[in-house]
Amino acid sequence: MKPLKVGLLGFGTVGSGVWKVLQRNQGEISRRAGREIIITHVAARAADGSLERARAECRGITVLDDAAKIVRDPEIDIVCELIGGTTIARTLVLDAIAHGKHVVTANKALLAHYGTEIFAAAHDKGVMVAFEAAVAGGIPIIKALREGLSANRIEWIAGIINGTSNFILSTMRETGAPFAEVLKEAQRLGYAEADPTFDVEGVDAAHKLTIMASIAFGIPMQFDKAYAEGITKLTREDIRYAEELGYRIKLLGITRRVEEQGIELRVHPTLIPVKRLIANVEGAMNAVLVKGDAVGPTLYYGAGAGSEPTASAVIADLVDVTRMHTADPEHRVPHLAFQPDRLSTIPILPISEVCTSYYLRLRVLDQPGVLADITRILADHAISIEAFLQKEATHGEEVDIIVLTHHAIEKNVRAALAKIEALPSVKGECALIRMEGLY
Ligand code: HSE
Repeated sequence: MKPLKVGLLGFGTVGSGVWKVLQRNQGEISRRAGREIIITHVAARAADGSLERARAECRGITVLDDAAKIVRDPEIDIVCELIGGTTIARTLVLDAIAHGKHVVTANKALLAHYGTEIFAAAHDKGVMVAFEAAVAGGIPIIKALREGLSANRIEWIAGIINGTSNFILSTMRETGAPFAEVLKEAQRLGYAEADPTFDVEGVDAAHKLTIMASIAFGIPMQFDKAYAEGITKLTREDIRYAEELGYRIKLLGITRRVEEQGIELRVHPTLIPVKRLIANVEGAMNAVLVKGDAVGPTLYYGAGAGSEPTASAVIADLVDVTRMHTADPEHRVPHLAFQPDRLSTIPILPISEVCTSYYLRLRVLDQPGVLADITRILADHAISIEAFLQKEATHGEEVDIIVLTHHAIEKNVRAALAKIEALPSVKGECALIRMEGLY
């Protein structure tokens, strides 16, 4: 059989990894795919030096600076989009589909924003859009959710799905190094997005969570309704106090089905009991916990970023597309696991309606009546206290008080905090970090 021909768009961290791994494992890969998969064209940019690198590394194939040419080339069967971003990449992907090419992409931002449009176009054209590398790098979580768990009603997913922020949190906790220094190291190692604020502000994780929620619950991509809060406001004190209480702080992406109400879709720093496996996922590693009604909790762990781990997922998609290439579109695995005409209209819940438990840190004057005022306000808002800790004075007359709550509705907690912050004995803003038991 003739080899399947791939046009690779982008020769950055992931693109060069795909080239390397495909060359190295060519024999095994074609034995699995049932046919050879070869990269015949690469598009790269002169401005960032990737064009020169691609020309030096990819001998004997066509290397261009014009990706638009590749997506229209009748020779090409699969376009592999590894450019990133939501502007040029969107045009190229839609153009590739319009020209009858299958698409493999690692672009989570593109799918979270335009997935509905892209999958509809692919469906109309009878081509596949595969995106295993878009979520959690090398971990085959899309395949697990879409195929391995298809017997289940998914209850919730909680994941560490941004390697950069996990690397920063782990390194800061272990070494006490400052945020900016650790971020630079993550960028040097190739974990961070072109715009690292996407990593540290929870946006990248929200892109990935949006995609997982879609597949888990059979809903359209709704990134605009996701709640995203990053790690930039976390203090070293909060990390330390959490440890003292038996918790670790992780940036989690959480999506949960709340019966009769809707779907939670939220990314934020989260206290997790340190004894949970996922609390011990360190460095740039990712982990995704999925709770299905039949299977119970399952955990998927691996490298969530980096050149070859991400290439592993991209090439798995190339193999999948190659295998499915001849199957008629009606009998392929649907892009979002559920048949496109059977998506649910269940709403995404705003963060104010989320019900979870909370870590609250308040800085107060160490004087009589302060605790009584705080606990009364919490009680007035139907917030029950699970644990309470007062730290020794480290800020002159002021002390830190930590309150762990039982489950409460977020809008009640916010309303109570507004009243607490208005007390003359309370200094500055209170820290709020959500907590999840994860079982
Ligand atoms: N910037 C991402 C991360 C890369 O840090 O996880 C993989 O999507």
